[in-house]
Order: sequence, then structure tokens, then C-alpha cells
Amino acid sequence: MAILPIVQYPDSRLSRVCEPVTEFNEDLKTLAADMADTMYDAPGVGLAAPQIGRCIRMVVVDISEEKNQLKVFVNPVLTPLTEEATTCEEGCLSLPGIYEKVERPSRVLVKAQDLDGQPFEMECDELMAVCIQHEVDHLNGKVFVDHLSQLKKSRATAKLAKRRKEEARNAKKQA
Ligand code: NI
Repeated sequence: MAILPIVQYPDSRLSRVCEPVTEFNEDLKTLAADMADTMYDAPGVGLAAPQIGRCIRMVVVDISEEKNQLKVFVNPVLTPLTEEATTCEEGCLSLPGIYEKVERPSRVLVKAQDLDGQPFEMECDELMAVCIQHEVDHLNGKVFVDHLSQLKKSRATAKLAKRRKEEARNAKKQA
């Protein structure tokens, strides 16, 4: 079990397109377990490999209250199942304290592989649909504020920068 440091926006590792996973070995299983530990510790409902500095196509998600329904998606591919969109307030462990409304398709089909390389499919709606789309964006070098208008995005990132400055100032005071 390991809790890994989470890469913070606007680190360039969050804007790369990640590589497909080709080897389904013990290292991959360990990485998935560490990503899950990191997500639960944060706490968050999803985490993508680039958020812990690995440029590979793998995400972990658990939207359950009890935190006992971990799902690992390797090489996920999404297809919208409806033209209907829903708007949900999203946050991200790489942009702590920032919450903004993002519009996305309300139902998607996920085709992915499990940690043994076995293909599976899952239809996602509601929070799961939001979450998986948010995480797959990370694999394509995108964060949720990239969905906002330029004005809203610059407001959100300015707020994040201000928060960081305050945190640094408080840390200095305590040192
Ligand atoms: Ni995120």
C-alpha cells in the first residue's frame, strides 16, 4: 500500500496524451492498487494515471458511499449513448478547492480492459458517467476546466493560484 503524491495543475504532465497499456503484469496491478489507495486517502471518487505522474491509459473509480466498489479501467474508450447532456459540478484532486459546472453526455458506453487484459464493457449513467468522462479526459491531456469558457477558466485558475499562495504563506508562518 502506498499513497502517491498527486500532480498539481498546471503541471505539464497533466497535458500529455497518455500511452496505451500493453503489458498486464504485476507492476500494473501494484500501480492500480497504489492509485486506489491514493484516491481513497485524498479522498476522491476517481484518479487517472497522469495524476500520479504516469503517462499510461489507466484510471480508477469508486463512486460508492462505502468505498468498496473499486473499478479499474485500462485503455478505456468512450462512446456517448445519448445526445442528452447533464450538467454536474465537478472537482479534481489536481485542482483542489475548485468546483465548476461542466456539461457532458448523460450516458456513455465504456469499453476497457481489466488488469489481466480481459476486455469488458460497461454502460454508465449519472455520477458514474460524469466520473469516467472526467477521468478519460485526463488520459487525453485534458482537465475539467478545459471545458469552461475562457473567462470562467481563467477565473478558476486565478482562484487556484490565490489558494496556493495563501497555503504557502500559512505554511511559512507555521515553519
Ligand atoms: Ni481530475
